[in-house]
Amino acid sequence: MTQLTQDQLVGNYQKLRRLVNDTFSGERLERLNEMYDTLEDRMIVAPASGKEHYHNAFVGGYVEHVLHVASLALKINKLWKDNGAHINYTNEELVFAALHHDLGKVGDLEGEYYSPNDSDWHRKNQGLIFKHNDEIQYMTVTDRAIFLLNHFGVKMSKWEYIGLKLTDGMYEEANKSYYTGYIHATRLRSNIAYVLHQADMMATHLEYDKWEQGEEQSKQEVSKKVSNIKQAVNTEVETKLTGDSPKDLFEELFGEKK
Ligand SMILES: [Fe+2]
Repeated sequence: MTQLTQDQLVGNYQKLRRLVNDTFSGERLERLNEMYDTLEDRMIVAPASGKEHYHNAFVGGYVEHVLHVASLALKINKLWKDNGAHINYTNEELVFAALHHDLGKVGDLEGEYYSPNDSDWHRKNQGLIFKHNDEIQYMTVTDRAIFLLNHFGVKMSKWEYIGLKLTDGMYEEANKSYYTGYIHATRLRSNIAYVLHQADMMATHLEYDKWEQGEEQSKQEVSKKVSNIKQAVNTEVETKLTGDSPKDLFEELFGEKK
């Protein structure tokens, strides 16, 4: 499982606060900073999901994920723009929605959304690293994001609202009527939702790939250690049988006395 160091956790969080300070201004920035100060302790350690095979299910996964989505959203937006897309929103609006689309994963005013799973069986057999905190009122992640922003008096533009709400695309049942506006009058009148959904989906899959590669690497490391131990044991046995002077292979192989 991915484990970020304390320096990485703090570094990512500082990067997020810098991005907020560089992107927003005036009263809205003041309100955002108040919100971030209040939620800081939980936000730094929040995961982005509870299941290890989903994405960023580790301490600090939330901050890493929203930074990832914001960065990809700007790149994907440029691709759309360079290919002739009508862009009727600003980069500030795009970054606002990207940074806050998963805000509900930090929890509400009373408690965290994810807490470490105390069931060893579920962690090992189902990869459920975190579980939902059943002490807080159920809300969808998006609803809680909007509630928190509203609570701290952070105003949103129309496109920020549309973008934030629709970032999950058709994976969220409640978004269906927005994406399937088959009659002209109910169509989405901005590309911001498509750009954000692509950025979120890409970030999620890249984060999954990184986890999968890490798992593969740790499997190979474990298998190498096991083979080293087998080799050490075989050599010890042979040494004893042949009566040669014993060689401390454990020390040689693992850097410590057996
Ligand atoms: Fe997301």
